[in-house]
Amino acid sequence: MSTLIRNGLVINATGSHAADVLIDGEHIAALVTPGFSVQADEVIDAAGKYVIPGGIDAHTHMEMPFGGTQSADTFETGTTAAAWGGTTTIVDFAVQPKGSSLLSTLDKWHSKADGNCAVDYGFHMIISDVTDESLKEMESCIAAGVNSFKMFMAYPGVFYATDGEILRAMQKARETGATIMMHAENGIAIDQLVAQALASGLGDPVQHGLTRPPELEGEATSRAIQLAKVTGSPLYIVHLSASQALDAVTAARDTGQNVFAETCPQYLYLSLEDLARPGFEGAKYVASPPLRPKEHQSSLWRGLRTNDLSVVSTDHCPFCFKDQKQLGVGDFSKIPNGMPGVEHRVDLLHQGVVKGEITRERWVEIVSTTPARMFGMYPRKGVIAPGADADVVVYDPKASQTISADTHHMAVDYSAYEGFEVTGKVDTVFSRGRKVIADGAYHGSTGHGRFVSRDLNQYLV
Ligand code: URP
Ligand code: ZN
Ligand code: ZN
Ligand code: ZN
Repeated sequence: MSTLIRNGLVINATGSHAADVLIDGEHIAALVTPGFSVQADEVIDAAGKYVIPGGIDAHTHMEMPFGGTQSADTFETGTTAAAWGGTTTIVDFAVQPKGSSLLSTLDKWHSKADGNCAVDYGFHMIISDVTDESLKEMESCIAAGVNSFKMFMAYPGVFYATDGEILRAMQKARETGATIMMHAENGIAIDQLVAQALASGLGDPVQHGLTRPPELEGEATSRAIQLAKVTGSPLYIVHLSASQALDAVTAARDTGQNVFAETCPQYLYLSLEDLARPGFEGAKYVASPPLRPKEHQSSLWRGLRTNDLSVVSTDHCPFCFKDQKQLGVGDFSKIPNGMPGVEHRVDLLHQGVVKGEITRERWVEIVSTTPARMFGMYPRKGVIAPGADADVVVYDPKASQTISADTHHMAVDYSAYEGFEVTGKVDTVFSRGRKVIADGAYHGSTGHGRFVSRDLNQYLV
């Protein structure tokens, strides 16, 4: 089966040009100068539209266990919603429970995802138990296509790793070429602030933000950077939210250290004011790190322009408002942490283009090309070029839409962006040559999505 996408503007991170894109089977076969006649089984007219590489969301949590419940999207619903939003690859986090092995964890995540995904998927591994055994198992994970390992400086007693444990994992990363991903918040200090707030009778969702001050994200980010420097390990700071943390990343990168960071749409568009919404409404916006005062947003946009922030991922981790977020009524520390977003990342970042914060090429770079390079999928993914997987989105930059839980496809009962009016809309989506979204309908199938065994990161500062 071949498809020709005609008359569109092809946008890659490196530049944009008018070209027709020929898809043959699962791959992009050719970029053709407009006007040349090419035979194809199907022809799609993309006049007035962009043709971009499918989005890559390098940070999702489908069916993630959390305090007796689990995140509301399954791999099936979450990857289907991703497809609707122009994301054709996710990288989800396998979570090692304390006392289990990394390889049994990986098996478990394969059994959740394999045969159930609408688009392609890879895994990172969360290490919550640093032992001789699990450090050794990092090598087997790498051989199995999982070469990025997330650690936590937050959540003492759950995922928290000591500085010594982090150092040991970083030494292993240095030895093997793996990447350490860090949740950088000082959880020891935060837990004291949380206990003090609760003891003073302060239980509302806004306390989640007030007990996790940006300084404690800045401090943890600096500490992670120093540990990475001592060990020579590459470091990727996940879900960076605060200007203090960005300053630390910027300073490290200015010295040439291999430190990278992602931010998320919620930190660009939402703020502490949302956490302070009356009633229990603020619980919809509880995620860690927390939403920050609005002043942080302009720093994050600047970071996206200067490449001190290299990626925007969603940290998609949805919990329903009605039956899951309610676990924390009266005690904000019991609200499941996480927000939905996998469906709207590409659209939300396109607003940065509309508002003049970033160029359209930088938009493609942030939502697709850099995540592909950073996580060992380039040039299979992240680029419109001959030989690449035909993960292709036809995007209408002029269409408008209103984001709402009434119309989204994520299995969660609210939208963090309810009522947001956005310019731009996904028109047609191909996942490895298969048309999955077209004419406002889903044409994909569960199980089409394949596991992406990833190469080691070759991407340097
Ligand atoms: O609140 C969040 N971010 N939940 C997901 C887990 C994590 O720390 O990324
Ligand atoms: Zn995290
Ligand atoms: Zn996360
Ligand atoms: Zn629900």
